[in-house]
Amino acid sequence: MTVKIAIIGGTGVYDPAILKDLRTVEVDTKYGKVAIKVGSYGDKEVAFLARHGEGHTVPPHLINYRANIMALKRLGVRHIIATAAVGSLDLKMEAGHLVVVEDFLDFTKARATTFFDGGEAGVVHTDFTYPYCPRLRQILVQAGEKENLTIHDKAVYVCTEGPRFETPTEIKMYQSFGGHLVGMTSVPEVLLAREAEICYATVAMVTNYGAGISPQPLTHMEVLEAMDANKENIKKLAMKTIEL
Ligand code: HPA
Repeated sequence: MTVKIAIIGGTGVYDPAILKDLRTVEVDTKYGKVAIKVGSYGDKEVAFLARHGEGHTVPPHLINYRANIMALKRLGVRHIIATAAVGSLDLKMEAGHLVVVEDFLDFTKARATTFFDGGEAGVVHTDFTYPYCPRLRQILVQAGEKENLTIHDKAVYVCTEGPRFETPTEIKMYQSFGGHLVGMTSVPEVLLAREAEICYATVAMVTNYGAGISPQPLTHMEVLEAMDANKENIKKLAMKTIEL
């Protein structure tokens, strides 16, 4: 059976135990080897990839995004549900809320962002009028409503280079640019998925308000604790989305 759907689990989402007959598949790509878990959910085969590695050992700026997306493409994946822990720049998007991302602002600095590096790979300029797959976004929102989760149906994700968190002035600037969420991983994942012609959508889990909105300093532990408290909701949402 081919694997058409993948979940890329971000911070706090490492556990594909809900899938049956789990096995690990190693996929070799020109960018490196990727270990992907594959299992079944109902009559569907689903791939699971922990973005930061099992045990969260790879920081956002060092993730091998090209290898990950190419490996999923090799498996035959057509749809990717990506999860992401994010800070919120919008008071309406509170810790514990889910948000289906609509657009992004790219503030990354030093990442390989394309498969098309010229030469044999060619020169390609990809359209991003609809950066995240509209059909999959719609299904995620429907699934969230069916599961009675608090889910926002659009937001602009500001992707920073990390691994540090932002300064209060950066957060104000991102707000003034129209950003609602801040995170460190959606770019270049979303770009590469589009280049690979995979329908890709991100569901973000708000773990905190951005620096300076919340008065106390932000810690990675706070992000992990908020994810841990709410990861069941992400799991429910992902599984319902696969059913729909
Ligand atoms: N900033 C960047 N990335 C994040 C944050 C944040 O406040 N929270 C969770 N991931």
